[in-house]
Amino acid sequence: MPSNVLVAYGTTNGSTAEIAEAVAAVLRKEGVAAEALPARSATSVSPYDAVVVGGGLYAGRWHKDARRFVRRHGRSLAGRPVWFFSSGPLDASASERDIPPVPGVRRAMDKLEASNALLRAATGAGLLVVGHRPAERPTVPRTGPVTHAVIHHVGCPVAVLPHF
Ligand SMILES: Cc1cc2nc3c(=O)[nH]c(=O)nc-3n(C[C@H](O)[C@H](O)[C@H](O)COP(=O)(O)O)c2cc1C
Repeated sequence: MPSNVLVAYGTTNGSTAEIAEAVAAVLRKEGVAAEALPARSATSVSPYDAVVVGGGLYAGRWHKDARRFVRRHGRSLAGRPVWFFSSGPLDASASERDIPPVPGVRRAMDKLEASNALLRAATGAGLLVVGHRPAERPTVPRTGPVTHAVIHHVGCPVAVLPHF
């Protein structure tokens, strides 16, 4: 079980903050150190060994603070247990059925799952070989976010080879 959990939230009207505080309170009751913080003021996830991220939904999108948090800390989130939640509809639909993640949250989940699957697959490897994109445009990163996260967390030397 993780010992120190960050619950980061993006809120406009306060509901998601209340949910985040409730999640942190339940974790603390279970003996886990947990704190809820606004996603925009959480500067680092390094002190935490698991992270919960929540955002209110507005016009089908996660709150921008939650989106930015996941973008900013994507590399650090890979390799840690992460749980996302959304605070959503004003009607009763959420109590009637499970509501799937909105597309932006689904994409963020897929990236993290891909990074974590690759990290698990690389456990015990002596060398990780990854490819990078051709340097057509200097402003575009030469490795994608998944490769980038894996490179920073894998416990062995990494060879980055160009695609031919
Ligand atoms: C302008 C507006 C747009 C909203 N759009 C959505 C939406 O697209 N999907 C959804 O499930 N809920 C939507 N909601 C409901 C909010 O997500 C819900 O009230 C949420 O708990 C707000 O979080 P907050 O209080 O932390 O800001 C919307 C609410 C408002 C006021």
